[in-house]
Amino acid sequence: MPTLLITGASRGLGLEMTRQYAAEGWRVFACARTPDQAVELQAVAAASNARVTVHALDVADHGRIDALAAELQGQPIDVLINSAGLMGRESFAEKGMAIQRFGQTDYDDWMRTLRVNLFGPMKMAEAFVENVAASEQKKLVTLTSIVGSIGQNTFGGLYAYRSSKAAANSIMKSMALDLKRRGIIALPMHPGWVRTDIGGPRAELDAPAAVAGLRKVIGGLMPADAGRFLQWDGRELPW
Ligand SMILES: NC(=O)c1ccc[n+]([C@@H]2O[C@H](COP(=O)([O-])OP(=O)(O)OC[C@H]3O[C@@H](n4cnc5c(N)ncnc54)[C@H](OP(=O)(O)O)[C@@H]3O)[C@@H](O)[C@H]2O)c1
Repeated sequence: MPTLLITGASRGLGLEMTRQYAAEGWRVFACARTPDQAVELQAVAAASNARVTVHALDVADHGRIDALAAELQGQPIDVLINSAGLMGRESFAEKGMAIQRFGQTDYDDWMRTLRVNLFGPMKMAEAFVENVAASEQKKLVTLTSIVGSIGQNTFGGLYAYRSSKAAANSIMKSMALDLKRRGIIALPMHPGWVRTDIGGPRAELDAPAAVAGLRKVIGGLMPADAGRFLQWDGRELPW
């Protein structure tokens, strides 16, 4: 049975990923910062015949990541998806590009964003690399964003979020090169603009459609795809 480990499974894309992979028969280790509050995720797990288990994991807590890696030692993980992420203190869904403007920088909030969006995926990869290397599919995906593309930045602003995602793109490219010799396919992916708490109600896609697209692309990944920047429908994005 193929196995998924996913962060940020309490809501949004992480929850929908959990739902769809579980429905397809995968074993899912679904990580949530506060499992007690993740009511929808708990319902998915309860209906899964024990194929979905819920694990407490704040990706900013490296001690907890190490503890989970110790618990799962020897467990092959076919696909590791870093979905946990945040925009920062203010809501893009409510205020759009009015947040994180030049001259308004909240450096503590920026650091918190980097801890989750950048150091989180790095630490997860370092902690679970042996599990991924021991699996059949060997795929390591971080949901970054088109907002992290320097080539596609035509609006400016969003300093904290953009820089966290641009840097996450950069580490995924390095991982692709460093882990290729172990057969691991590492890459950053843009999920599309999706109607979740981060994306807001005006976004183009709903979570089921975005996740169906992402899963199709992830399912078809080949070694040559390592280090590409792909979006939910398989199109390649500029760095
Ligand atoms: N939706 C979009 O349009 C869009 C576009 C581009 C990229 N993305 C990226 O896609 C990923 C998923 O986003 P989404 O749309 O599903 O957003 P979402 O609905 O707001 O969900 C964010 C998830 O991240 C979790 N999270 C936040 N901080 C965490 C931490 N410290 N430790 C563990 N989990 C944490 C949240 O958990 P809690 O419930 O505990 O807060 C929640 O499960 C993010 O990386 C986002 O940047 C989304």
